[in-house]
Amino acid sequence: MKDSSKIGILGIGAYVPKRILTNNDLEELVDTSDEWIQTRTGIKQRRIADASEASSDLGAIAAKQALDDAKLNPEDIEAIVTATLSPDYISPATACLIQSKIGAHNAAAFDLGAGCSGFVYALTVAYGLVLAGFKKVLVVGTETTSRFVNWQDRSTCVLFGDGAGAVVVGEVKAGGILGWDIGADGTNFDVLKIPAGGSREPLSALNIHQQRQYIYMNGAEVFRFAVRVIPKTSQKALLNAQVQPDDIDWMIPHQANTRIINAAVESLGIAKESVVVNLDRYGNTSAASIPIAWVEGIEEGKIKRGHKLLLVGFGAGLTWGSMVLEY
Ligand SMILES: CC(C)(COP(=O)(O)OP(=O)(O)OC[C@H]1O[C@@H](n2cnc3c(N)ncnc32)[C@H](O)[C@@H]1OP(=O)(O)O)[C@@H](O)C(=O)NCCC(=O)NCCS
Repeated sequence: MKDSSKIGILGIGAYVPKRILTNNDLEELVDTSDEWIQTRTGIKQRRIADASEASSDLGAIAAKQALDDAKLNPEDIEAIVTATLSPDYISPATACLIQSKIGAHNAAAFDLGAGCSGFVYALTVAYGLVLAGFKKVLVVGTETTSRFVNWQDRSTCVLFGDGAGAVVVGEVKAGGILGWDIGADGTNFDVLKIPAGGSREPLSALNIHQQRQYIYMNGAEVFRFAVRVIPKTSQKALLNAQVQPDDIDWMIPHQANTRIINAAVESLGIAKESVVVNLDRYGNTSAASIPIAWVEGIEEGKIKRGHKLLLVGFGAGLTWGSMVLEY
């Protein structure tokens, strides 16, 4: 890479499954109400993958769109980094399935597990790979969390949705990635996890009976963590990028809860009108939420090339990550 080169976004895409599950539909499944879900979370509906669709299927569609947007062929991609907490298999990596589905035969492929911070983590890794000499890196955030949600647990099943987003990272003439911050607090690994199915607690008839193969979450703890960490990590990324909050055209936070977003944005000093929010229609799509909101912002004519963006994620780990870039 030439010293004067910048690293940025060459193309972007997103895909959500067709099936819509509304809050009213959920009233049929668990003891909840549209009113409770909307006032406590901001969510009205979410998308749910068909039985035939796994995370790699959604991710491959988003990846193809990102390649088309970048006017690149699949063979141009040298690495695929997939962020997901709902992989097709524990092994092999979902990135390998995406590689095969899109025909990116020249790409190294691996997954990255950073919960809902996964997309920002993966972008940071892609930035590092390009610095190290990889020319074009595909980042995919893809989730079918509906497969890991306990549809009898009202405290979690109302929150999540399925979807995917992807970007191609490579050299750009101007702008690009200006600053970032990623971090983790593993002492709090326990507040958001899937207890069974890993090496700590392999699947058994007993733990399946106890429904431990599903997402468990201490919602209040995650809420407090998110409100604390969003301004902190954003400020670090802004400082690294030498960009003032006022100069941000659009903030794209992880879409988990409008109350979290509002509280965090207030303490950051970014105008509410500059925050992209679409979780009313998609719920929390975990590692896919930021690119889905980004693509929607573009389609709605809000986000344009040259705009300065602040991306912020937080989630299981506990992890956090933020990035300032010129799109
Ligand atoms: C999950 C979350 C929406 C809960 O909202 P809350 O205002 O903290 O609600 P609480 O957990 O205090 O629960 C309040 C009551 O509502 C009930 N409740 C929980 N889910 C409910 C639902 N879907 N419908 C109706 N009532 C529900 C609880 O049982 C509790 O009842 P109780 O007071 O009789 O015990 C909120 O904590 C949250 O969004 N946390 C962050 C989650 C998140 O973003 N996770 C992903 C991070 S990547």
